[in-house]
Amino acid sequence: MSRQPRPVRVALGERSYDIHIAAGALDHAGALLRPHLRGKALVVADATVARLHGGRLAAALAAAGIAATVATFPAGEPSKTVATAETMWRACAEARIGRDDAVIGFGGGVSGDLAGFVAACWMRGVAFAQIPTTLLAMVDSSVGGKTGVNSAAGKNLVGAFKQPVAVVIDPALVASMDRREYRAGLAEVLKYGVINDPAFLAWQEAHAEALEAGEPAAVAHAVAESCRIKAWYVGEDETEQGVRAHLNYGHTFGHALERHTGYRTYLHGEAVGIGMRMAAVLAGRLGLLDDDGLARRQDALLARYRLPAEHAGSPTTVPALVAACGLDKKVAGGRMRFVLPRRTGTVETVAVDDAEAVAAAFAAAIRA
Ligand SMILES: NC(=O)c1ccc[n+]([C@@H]2O[C@H](COP(=O)([O-])OP(=O)(O)OC[C@H]3O[C@@H](n4cnc5c(N)ncnc54)[C@H](O)[C@@H]3O)[C@@H](O)[C@H]2O)c1
Repeated sequence: MSRQPRPVRVALGERSYDIHIAAGALDHAGALLRPHLRGKALVVADATVARLHGGRLAAALAAAGIAATVATFPAGEPSKTVATAETMWRACAEARIGRDDAVIGFGGGVSGDLAGFVAACWMRGVAFAQIPTTLLAMVDSSVGGKTGVNSAAGKNLVGAFKQPVAVVIDPALVASMDRREYRAGLAEVLKYGVINDPAFLAWQEAHAEALEAGEPAAVAHAVAESCRIKAWYVGEDETEQGVRAHLNYGHTFGHALERHTGYRTYLHGEAVGIGMRMAAVLAGRLGLLDDDGLARRQDALLARYRLPAEHAGSPTTVPALVAACGLDKKVAGGRMRFVLPRRTGTVETVAVDDAEAVAAAFAAAIRA
């Protein structure tokens, strides 16, 4: 590894764990995981990631004396199902994964969510480790223990909290990512600055082009800062009873947009980016947002990350989206709940019953 910075710690008492972040960490994954694994491992990876990077992981595990079997599934969100989990459980049986063994999620958020769910259920819970390979998985889904699958009832409704024993992140792996997928991950990076850390937001303003271009040092720094912030929320509120919900900034609007477009138009991060714009507009309309330039800075960074700024809709789009919000799982007591900015680095969860203001927020980022 070129550098070995101090790992980021997720502080959860006996279930605390480290996030190891370094370019080249994939080649040291065995050594980094060895102290946390008692036996052998099943690696759950999508077929694309297994093809691109599976050989290096296999070599790293073998070098550390970890006997591993790789089980693959077709890449993509449609694979995040109980049916795929069932296939992975069969692979667990074939590889004789027992109580002392482990499941390793290797890939993007789909692999991590699926592998964690497989680990949480197999033998009522075996050890689980995460090796994320997309920017979104590095900065978000691999940290915090939310795992699960999609079902006919909706996305991510079936799952378990299953904290990993360790997370190994090699930020250099983003180099092989599709550019659009990579940029979508930057929306979550931007989110951390907006909701929690003015200094990180300012750093992004100083390095936006380097980050957008995937310049290794910028990526490594952004991943480490994002993980530090996410780890803080998880340590404060593991099961999202309170402050962890702030990580959903932009997501209520974004989910409505994704549902409205049948999950075909936007990558998740792209919808979240547009949702963040809408959240800032709503906060302004409700008189919650200090006039400190946050909305302008957020818009500027979204543009520099080359993320879409508005949705191309029709006159019926806004009412349809307001209705779609009503279906969002974050609804409480009939009022819509939104995470809204107060000022740079500070957000809060607000129950909103002003449907007109919500409609105006949607309209602000919809081009007819
Ligand atoms: N658990 C959580 O807290 C949490 C948080 C956010 C999102 N998620 C979930 O994450 C999922 C989305 O994750 P994602 O965006 O990583 O999608 P993904 O796992 O489908 O990966 C996207 C694509 O990138 C490919 N890929 C992965 N790494 C690569 C690499 N290094 N080089 C080249 N190609 C690579 C994959 O094969 C796939 O085709 C969703 O299911 C979402 O619900 C979970």
